[in-house]
Amino acid sequence: MASPPIDIRNAPPVLPDEVFIPKEYLSDIDHILVRQRCFNERIHVMAEEISRDFEHGNGLAVVVLKGGKYFSDHVLTHRMMNAKFEYRTVRATSYHGTESSGNVALESDISEDGVKNKHVLLFEDIIDTGRTLDAITQHLLQMNPASVGIAAMLDKPERRTVAGIDSFIKYCGWIIPNKFVVGCGLDFDGKYRDLQHIAVLKPEVYHGK
Ligand code: IMP
Ligand code: MG
Repeated sequence: MASPPIDIRNAPPVLPDEVFIPKEYLSDIDHILVRQRCFNERIHVMAEEISRDFEHGNGLAVVVLKGGKYFSDHVLTHRMMNAKFEYRTVRATSYHGTESSGNVALESDISEDGVKNKHVLLFEDIIDTGRTLDAITQHLLQMNPASVGIAAMLDKPERRTVAGIDSFIKYCGWIIPNKFVVGCGLDFDGKYRDLQHIAVLKPEVYHGK
């Protein structure tokens, strides 16, 4: 059994001046949700759990680009990671015509031969409505994998519209409040992916766009 995600929906905020933030980003950050030290501690635990569960081999890591790469790199190259994974990527683009309808287009280097009889573990930065992971899991399930599971860095359950994916979530780092976050792979407009904490952006940064 994997450890449950850390629920930080009601955690007291860490102020930006309590941690190091590059000066280019400092004025855009409202507060920190997960500082680098806490990120590393949780990744250590998740790497141990995933390593133990996939030691049997036959694991295929499917990384959801671009955001899932920071998280998967930290887990898969962690010193506690002894399991060996084959590695593929998938990129999802969503078109939200209206609030209620969403269409997800997938571009990937995954083939049916590469998935068949594999234990697939999907690495994603954040589960929001769940549409992206729903489209990807449905796509993979058609290729006869031995199993499909999700490793998510973050979960924003209040935003979920596709509940069907929740049963696939095997590992999750943190449950966060319904706020727009950046850092540790998450971006806004291509920025902040390299920030080494998970942070809430000031609303004026994205409302100005
Ligand atoms: P979903 O299909 O609604 O679950 O969307 C998930 C995708 O939306 C993630 O893979 C992210 O790329 C993006 N996303 C959702 N919430 C955030 C956020 O707070 N910050 C940055 N990207 C986000
Ligand atoms: Mg993403």
